[in-house]
Amino acid sequence: MFSKIIATGSYLPSNILTNQDLEKKVDTTDEWIRSRTGIERRSIADPQQTTSDLGYEAAKKAIDRSGIDKHEIDLIIVGTCTPDVPTPNVGAIIQEKIGLKDFPAFSIEAACSGFVYAMNLANKFILSGDSKCALVIGAETLSRITDWEDRNTCVLFADGAGAAILKPSEDPGIIYSKLGANGAYSDLLYVPYGTSKRPLKEQRNDNFLQMKGNEVFKVAVKTLESIAKDSLKEVNMTSEDIDWFIPHQANIRIIQAVSKRLNIPEKKVIISLTDHGNTSAASIPLALDQSIREGKIKTGDTVLLQSFGAGFTWGTVIIKI
Ligand code: UT7
Repeated sequence: MFSKIIATGSYLPSNILTNQDLEKKVDTTDEWIRSRTGIERRSIADPQQTTSDLGYEAAKKAIDRSGIDKHEIDLIIVGTCTPDVPTPNVGAIIQEKIGLKDFPAFSIEAACSGFVYAMNLANKFILSGDSKCALVIGAETLSRITDWEDRNTCVLFADGAGAAILKPSEDPGIIYSKLGANGAYSDLLYVPYGTSKRPLKEQRNDNFLQMKGNEVFKVAVKTLESIAKDSLKEVNMTSEDIDWFIPHQANIRIIQAVSKRLNIPEKKVIISLTDHGNTSAASIPLALDQSIREGKIKTGDTVLLQSFGAGFTWGTVIIKI
């Protein structure tokens, strides 16, 4: 028995922020952003839109495309580090927005690895028989925790959501999944305060995502290379068996360095950060859905999903579509 994706969906807010727009806000250039990150534009949520709104829109598309009756869904897991509120969780909020109730719905906070963590968990629910139809979402409004005066970070982060519906199947679906984390790196990428570290009523206008980009870059490349090699070895595969590689979309130079070390040719690597920016937990499901819509990824293809983010957290999923 396997868990198989039966449909995907994604959603991007309509407000597009280009590199040229950013040139007017901070001391940067389109040339610097494109050459150092690969990003050209990104979507930013409207002030009234929350993470659950974005996740709901992506979920709605996945449900419509799947052809299922929405009442078949018996599990919702959302990966996000920008929840609407500390509680209730984004999964429960989206459950209510879809018009469902009475089954587990929760969110997990593993930063950019949120969607891969959620897929891993949903797979376990399905393989144990506890779920027959799981809705897995990655959704973020990173614009809310970005300092729009800090050129080191504001050129990178963006908003969006992606979703996948998983069902049990006798045909191969998720053939491998493994997660990891190392909290020793927590000072390289973090938000300084939360509800516990500093009470909400004392929070000032200084609670933004902080990143030592250069150091994150180096650990990301090394970690992604080593976990991909380990994963492929564990399933007796080589990079030649992979039809498509969807890494977390943080920086085109990280993606190129990792693909080169893994001997995965450029034509098999999905790059969506050009138009999406870094959307954390939403980046992989957005890239997956976009590639399916564009007709690149087809039924029967083997796809390697790889995440890396704050914590540090990381994860791999190898899936047959
Ligand atoms: O999603 C979770 C994981 N996150 C990541 O994987 C992100 C990993 N890191 C990165 O993607 C890259 O490190 C960055 C894109 C954040 C930065 O690129 P970099 O090549 O590592 O640049 P840097 O931080 O070494 O900075 C190089 C120079 C500095 O100037 P000096 O000190 O050489 O004079 C920066 O001040 O570039 C300057 N700089 C900028 N210049 C123009 C930094 N940001 C900008 C900017 N525009 N936006």
